[in-house]
Amino acid sequence: MTAQIINGKAIAENLLASIKLKIDARIVAGKRAPCLAVILVGADPASAIYVRNKRKACEKIGIRSIAYELSADTSEANLFTLVDRLNNDATVDGILVQSPLPPQIDEERLIERINVDKDVDGFHPYNIGRLAIRQPTLRSCTPFGVIKMLQAVNIDLMGLDATIVGVSNHVGRPMALELLLAGCTITSCHRHTKDLAGKVRNADLIIAAAGKAGLIQGDWIKAGAIVVDIGINRLADGSICGDVDFNAAKARASYITPVPGGVGPMTVATLMENTLLALELKEKIS
Ligand code: GUN
Repeated sequence: MTAQIINGKAIAENLLASIKLKIDARIVAGKRAPCLAVILVGADPASAIYVRNKRKACEKIGIRSIAYELSADTSEANLFTLVDRLNNDATVDGILVQSPLPPQIDEERLIERINVDKDVDGFHPYNIGRLAIRQPTLRSCTPFGVIKMLQAVNIDLMGLDATIVGVSNHVGRPMALELLLAGCTITSCHRHTKDLAGKVRNADLIIAAAGKAGLIQGDWIKAGAIVVDIGINRLADGSICGDVDFNAAKARASYITPVPGGVGPMTVATLMENTLLALELKEKIS
């Protein structure tokens, strides 16, 4: 078997085009465009690229974006003051603070500082909790992007055995909640998991989100399984790869996502969708 490669970039382009149509229709109806505030603290080169991609996507579909580039020694108090100001600005719909953050800033405190209605990353404990009780509102971009990508290629998730490798707050944990909501039976794996290979071998759907190049070996993949690789690892030669041994896995899987060009663009498109949703929800209650 050779897997069908899921073209996340093309699926994300379609999603962006449909969001643009909705924003264009708002403007024709005399309503304002959504607005996303993007905050970058420090000069991490990968973060700078991610932030640039997010701002480019905004520009492409008519979302207003406001960029804040703060120095690496910005104090937590100053960052919180900026977040408070954006929380209180009725013209700002979404606030995104790119991680990783410098050590003087407590990331969990920062996330809780962002108004839950503007938490377009879907990281706030309230929004994670909403997902946990099957009442999702603003959903974490990467996990929700994965769900939409699988839906776009007509994969029925109901009843699948899903193994998620990685339990980070931003990706692995909300991914498990998304798959549970979609009707999967979930197994979450982490550094203390016994027999990782066995857990992967059992799975109809494998989500790799550990951030370790080559962790998931091709011969662990059950014939016909669906493989989603969320890992983004930079190799010594500067190239980017995922957590899965792509070529070996491709020979056994039914579907597989590439890195780059798989999940990454879906994260950005979902962020755009969340920003529009944040504005629409605000309009509904005001
Ligand atoms: N750093 C890497 N990915 C993300 C993301 O999706 N959101 C934020 N805020 N920071 C990130």
